[in-house]
Amino acid sequence: MRSPEPLAVTWSNEPSPQFIADARRVSATWALPLFERPHKRGLGPQLGVVANAFLVRGGQGWSLVDATGALGVSPGLAMLRLKRLGRGTQMPDRLLLEAGIRPGEVVVDATCGLGADARVLASAAGPGGRVIGLEASKPLAVLLAEGLPLETPWPSSGPIEVHHADAETWLRAQPSRSVDVVFFDPMFERTKKASPAFDELRRFANSRPLTRAAVDEARRVARRMVLMKSSDPALFPALGLEPVAPHANAFVYWGRSTVE
Ligand SMILES: C[S@@+](CC[C@H](N)C(=O)[O-])C[C@H]1O[C@@H](n2cnc3c(N)ncnc32)[C@H](O)[C@@H]1O
Repeated sequence: MRSPEPLAVTWSNEPSPQFIADARRVSATWALPLFERPHKRGLGPQLGVVANAFLVRGGQGWSLVDATGALGVSPGLAMLRLKRLGRGTQMPDRLLLEAGIRPGEVVVDATCGLGADARVLASAAGPGGRVIGLEASKPLAVLLAEGLPLETPWPSSGPIEVHHADAETWLRAQPSRSVDVVFFDPMFERTKKASPAFDELRRFANSRPLTRAAVDEARRVARRMVLMKSSDPALFPALGLEPVAPHANAFVYWGRSTVE
């Protein structure tokens, strides 16, 4: 018997012609097997037989379904942060505060996950700038790359291009000083503060620790700054990053290396 594919593409149980066309296109573009799902059939019996996970095109856009549940891509968290910024609250967005993104800048989100930070960075880079999102997990990269174009973008945001790539490998192939900022937000051990959404992401994410070589490449490629967010400030010195003074009761810490 054939072993299941790691990942396949299909459509919802009552698909529109558009969903079927999208699933066919994604299968061809990303070199993923297509499962031609019979009408009104659940995916349960196919999980672990045809594939261990499915990218499903349905009425809510794309979702990633495995035996544990479904993971969708949504602008929700980024929108909350952007709305707060728009209201000019006293609490600035910490990522934008630390990165100081200027309109027109090119920002690499080297560990972009489901793109909450990438959407916030794109809003600051504006239409004259852009965000390049790197994601080492193929299921997550496809989910975000195909999900983003189905969303209504935040007004005056720059584009976000998603690449399925390991950060170190991708950065190594770039010319020196070719982007403004490189941002890392690698996976960390589960803490009490981890949200259910983060646990869902973890099922598909690349959990290998960030390497010093990746950060050194980022320092070569960045014109202005390398920035990292982490739950463990002890990681920064070994990666050649300077810790930023934490806020009171912080459970997220920031480290950076300024190039300018
Ligand atoms: C904590 S999540 C990022 C969340 C993201 N900042 C957001 O706002 O949604 C870390 C992501 O980085 C990815 N990742 C880990 N190591 C990577 C690497 N070396 N290159 C590219 N992506 C990586 C993981 O697969 C995971 O999706």
